Amino acid sequence: MLHDDGLGGSQATAVASGGVRPSEFREIQSMAHDIFGLELKTGKEALVGARLGKRVRELGLKDISDYLGHVKQDHSGLELAGLIDALTTNFTSFLREPVHFKLLRDRILPGLAGRQTYQIWSAGCSTGEEPYSILFETAETLGDTKLGAMKLLATDISTRALKAASEGIFPVARLKELPDSWRKRYFQRGTGQQEGMVRVRPEWRARVQFERLNLMEDLSRMPRCAVIFCRNVMIYFDKPTQERLVGQFAARLDPGGWLLIGHSEGLMGVRHDLEYVMPAVYRKPGAGR
Ligand SMILES: C[S@@+](CC[C@H](N)C(=O)[O-])C[C@H]1O[C@@H](n2cnc3c(N)ncnc32)[C@H](O)[C@@H]1O
Repeated sequence: MLHDDGLGGSQATAVASGGVRPSEFREIQSMAHDIFGLELKTGKEALVGARLGKRVRELGLKDISDYLGHVKQDHSGLELAGLIDALTTNFTSFLREPVHFKLLRDRILPGLAGRQTYQIWSAGCSTGEEPYSILFETAETLGDTKLGAMKLLATDISTRALKAASEGIFPVARLKELPDSWRKRYFQRGTGQQEGMVRVRPEWRARVQFERLNLMEDLSRMPRCAVIFCRNVMIYFDKPTQERLVGQFAARLDPGGWLLIGHSEGLMGVRHDLEYVMPAVYRKPGAGR
C-alpha cells in the first residue's frame, strides 16, 4: 500500500513506489495532464518510477525531484518530449488492426479515387508503421498514377519516435504481417552492419510528411482531411480531453470524412457529431459521401 509521506517523503515510501514520492507523482500527474492530456492513474507510481528512473540515470541526475527541475528548466521542450516518451508507449506494428486496412481498401479509397487531391492524417504515428501501411495499401489499391492525389501527414509528439519513423529503418522481423511482394517493392535490405534490418525505399519515404505535433494544441492550422487515423493514442486521455480532441478532428474532416480510432478505445461517454459506422470507425455527416 502507498502512503502519502507529507513532509518531503520517507525513503521507504519512495522505494515502495519505484523511487517516486507521492508529491512528485502528483506533480508528474498534473504536468502530464495539463501539457499532454495524459491521465496517469494513481497506482502507476512504480511504473512511472521505473521509467523515469532510467532517464534520471541516463542524465546523471540524483533523483526524480532533480529530474523534474531539469525538465522545467529546459526551455527547448526536448526534455518534456523525453518525459512523455517515458510515460507513454510507442508500441505499433504494420497493418495493425487489419479491419481498418480492409475498410480503407474496400470502401474509403474507392470513394476518394475520383478526387484531384485528398489528405490522410496519421495522428500519433509513433515509429511510422501506421502511415507506411496506409501508403502501401493506397499504392496497392489505387495504383501509382492515382497515388499523387494523396497527401499523407504523420504526426507525433515524440521526437524519438518521429526520427525512427522518418528514417524508416526496421528489423526484418517487423515485416512479418506484410506480403512478400510488398517487402520487395517498398523496402531495401540492409547489408554489412545493417544485416537483419530493412529500410523503406527513399521514394516511398518521401511521400510521407512527418511533423512533430502535440494533439493538445489548437489544431485549426491542420489541413482538411478525408481520413484521420488516431489509433491507440486517446487511450491515455481522460474523457474531457478525448471530447475536445474528437471535436477538433471533426472540425478538420471533410464532409463524409472518416475518423478511425483504436479498437480498444471507443467513444462511449464522449459527445461528438460524428456518425458511428462500426467499432472504431466514425464518419462526418454531410455531402461528399
Ligand atoms: C501506442 S502509440 C500508437 C501508434 C499507432 N497510432 C498505432 O495505433 O499503432 C501512441 C502514440 O501516441 C503518441 N502520443 C501520446 N500523447 C500524444 C499527444 N498528446 N500528442 C501527440 N502524440 C501523442 C505517443 O508518442 C505514441 O507514439
